[in-house]
Amino acid sequence: MTLAELENEKAESLKAIAAAADAAAVEALRVKYVGRNGSIPALIKAMKDVPKEERPAFGKAVQAWRAEVEGALAAKGAGAGGEKSVDADLTLPGRWRSLGVKHPLSRVIEETAAIFGHLGFTVADGPELENKFNNFTALNTPPHHPSMDRSDTFWFGDDCLLRTQTSPVQIRTMMANKPPVRVICPGRTYRRDTTDATHSANFHQIEGLYVDTKPVSLADLKSVLAYFAKEMMGDGVTVRFRPHFFPFTEPSVEVDFTCHVCKGRGCNVCKQSGWIEVAGAGMVDPRVFKFVGYDPEEVSGYAFGFGVERIAMIKYGIPDIRWLYENDVRFLSQLA
Ligand code: PHE
Repeated sequence: MTLAELENEKAESLKAIAAAADAAAVEALRVKYVGRNGSIPALIKAMKDVPKEERPAFGKAVQAWRAEVEGALAAKGAGAGGEKSVDADLTLPGRWRSLGVKHPLSRVIEETAAIFGHLGFTVADGPELENKFNNFTALNTPPHHPSMDRSDTFWFGDDCLLRTQTSPVQIRTMMANKPPVRVICPGRTYRRDTTDATHSANFHQIEGLYVDTKPVSLADLKSVLAYFAKEMMGDGVTVRFRPHFFPFTEPSVEVDFTCHVCKGRGCNVCKQSGWIEVAGAGMVDPRVFKFVGYDPEEVSGYAFGFGVERIAMIKYGIPDIRWLYENDVRFLSQLA
């Protein structure tokens, strides 16, 4: 096609579009000129056969033609959807895609945040890579404590480690805020454990910290945890405290939930005891307050730390902790 012929065709095409009486006619012209097999794309494809010297001028003319045709079509209300949308059968059923479910660990964390949210606790966050001061020293942990041992903790040099607990977020929160403080801190924690059915080198905890200038007692701690137990596990589940030791709380307790399967009567799940251990807790040790610059004469408070995997395992009846990390949809989809 010569340039002159092109100009002729162009004039003809624009005249035809301007004269098109209805949408079907506009569509037919769209297909004829700019459709996939239309005359303009065909010209573009054939460009390589045009003598080299004429190519720039010819190319320009083709592009101009295309732009004018598209402009004219648009002015006539031609759809931008092209041929495909015309072919779509809107009466066919849609494509079904299955909805995912939240991972049980995320669910436990989100539910816990919601339950404590009702009691005025907000969520605090801290890094997984911690320093010795936040993870141990300020938590009143003496240098000879076994948890600091290289065989128990992932150290990177002398002052950098993967946190062994979420308790360092207590320190970060108190250093950054004046009392009163009311937070929970969910997150990943690390210990050099060999992985078996109930242990993993990487697991999750949810820390809780409540500090006030009004006196806070162990009874406050117990009532809050009893409320949490009932909300999380259902009616009939409560807590009991057993004396224990943690360097950063005094007194310290281990916290058991009533076995939610047998409601305390004794069964396989709770090894006939009626109780299941779920957390460590206690009243914040005055030395911890000193480390963060709080006056132990002015403030008091409690702290607790839950194992998220433990709660997920008892809540959903999961016998092996490894199932929580394998991402096997056959397992995860059962918890929908
Ligand atoms: N950090 C303790 C642990 O990992 C749990 C804990 C938290 C105990 C807060 C008391 C207070 O075992």
